[in-house]
Amino acid sequence: MDICIVGAGYVGLSTAVGFAEHGHRSVCVDINQKRIEDINSGVCPIFEPGVEEALRRSISKELLKATLDLKGALETSEVVFITVPTPCDDSGKMDTKFIDKASKDIAKYISSYKVVVVKSTVIPGTTESVVMKNLEAAGKKHGVDFGLCMNPEFLREGHALEDFLKPDRIVIGSADIRAGDVLEKLYEGFNAPMLRTDIKTAEMIKYASNSFLATKITFANEIGNICKLLGIDVYKVMGGVGMDKRINPHFLRAGCGFGGSCFPKDVSALLNKGREAGHEPRLLDTVLKVNADQRKLMVRHLRSKMDLKGKRIAVLGLAFNPDTDDVRESAAIDTVQGLIEHGADVSVYDPKAMDNFRKLFPGITYAKSAKDALKGADACIIATDWDEFKKLESKDFDSMKNKVILEGRKTLDKSKVKSFEGVCW
Ligand code: UGA
Repeated sequence: MDICIVGAGYVGLSTAVGFAEHGHRSVCVDINQKRIEDINSGVCPIFEPGVEEALRRSISKELLKATLDLKGALETSEVVFITVPTPCDDSGKMDTKFIDKASKDIAKYISSYKVVVVKSTVIPGTTESVVMKNLEAAGKKHGVDFGLCMNPEFLREGHALEDFLKPDRIVIGSADIRAGDVLEKLYEGFNAPMLRTDIKTAEMIKYASNSFLATKITFANEIGNICKLLGIDVYKVMGGVGMDKRINPHFLRAGCGFGGSCFPKDVSALLNKGREAGHEPRLLDTVLKVNADQRKLMVRHLRSKMDLKGKRIAVLGLAFNPDTDDVRESAAIDTVQGLIEHGADVSVYDPKAMDNFRKLFPGITYAKSAKDALKGADACIIATDWDEFKKLESKDFDSMKNKVILEGRKTLDKSKVKSFEGVCW
C-alpha cells in the first residue's frame, strides 16, 4: 500500500521503516528541510536503535522517501498518518496546534478518497473535534473524500522499531467501517490481536495505558521507599509480586521516577481533561506529585550524607531512558538542578544525550567518559541504566575522592562493584 506520513519524528519514522519491512511504500512529509535531506541520504535524524539500518534498507528498496511537498505525497497515497507532536501547554493541557495545522494542510490537498489516520496521542474527542472538523470545513465529505481512523502507537523510545514490529495489540478506532477495513488490511501480516473500536475509545485506550503504566511505576517506587527504610530489597519484592499473572513483572522497576516525553504529559493531559469533564482524578494527581518527589530523592539522599556545597558530584546518565538521546523530563534534570542549587560542582557524562543536556545546563562540566566524570568526585549518582554503566567495576571508581555511589536505576552489578546504594532499595 502507499502511505503518506505527516511528521517525521521518532513515531513517524519508526512507522515508515516498520511498514517498509512489510513491503509498504511510505512518503514522509516534514517541515524541516535538513531532516528531509538526512532521511533521503539514509541518515537517521533521531537516535533510535535499528532505525537507521532499516531506513537504509527501505530507501534501497525504494520503499521510503521524504519530502516537504505534502500535496505530491498525498496524490500517490491511500492512507495518511498524522504523527506530529502533541505537547502540553503551560497549564498542563494538551496543545493541538500541530494536529490542527497538519489536518488543515491535508484538507487543502485531498483530491480523492484517503484514509486519514491520527497516530499522535490525542485526548478523547480531538480526532473528531479537530481533524474531522478541519477536513469538513474545507468542503471534504466524510465517507466520500476521506475516511477517518485513530490508531494509537505504543512505542517506547529506545525500542520503537521493535515495538512497532512486534506489538502486543493493534488498536483501530474508526469513524466508518470502510476506513477501518483499509487500515486493518495495511496491518495484515502483523502477528498481533486487532481491536476495532470507535475513535474516542481508541484515543482513551492510549491515555489509560500510559496512565496505568505511570501508576504501576509509581506504586513500585512507593513500595521501594518503604522497603528502603525497612532494609528490604524492593527488586526482590517486585520479582515476587510480578509473578502473579494478574500483575505481571513489567514496569515494576523502582527508581528515581519516570520521565520522558510521554508519561508526564499524558497523565497531566488526562488529569486536566477529567477535571474539565467534572471529575477530580485524585489518583492521577497523586501519581504526578509522588513522581515529582521521587525525581528529587537522589539529591535528598546525598544531602543526608554530606553538605553538597563545593563538592564535586559526578552524574552518570542524562537521557530519560537508555538507548535514546532524549532528555525531556529526565530524572537527571531534577538531580543536576538540585545539585547546583545546593552549591555542588557538577560533572556529567552520557553516551548519547550530552548535546541535548548541554542546551539546558551549559555551565556544568561535560566529561569525555564515565571514568573521566568520576575523577576526584566526592560522590556519584547514576540516573540512566545504560549498558555501558552496567559494565563498570570497582576499580573504575578508584579515582573518586570518596566512593559514595548512589544509583537511581539498579544499574550496577553487585559482583563487579563492591559498595553502592540504591535510591529506594
Ligand atoms: C511510553 C510507553 O511505554 C509507550 O508504550 C508509549 O507508546 C510511549 O510512552 C508514548 O506514549 O509514546 P516511553 O516514555 O518512550 O514509552 O518509554 P518507557 O520505556 O515507557 O519509559 C518511561 C519512563 O518510565 C522512563 O523514565 C523509565 O526509566 C521509567 N520506568 C519504566 C521506570 O522507572 N520503571 C519501569 O519499570 C519502567
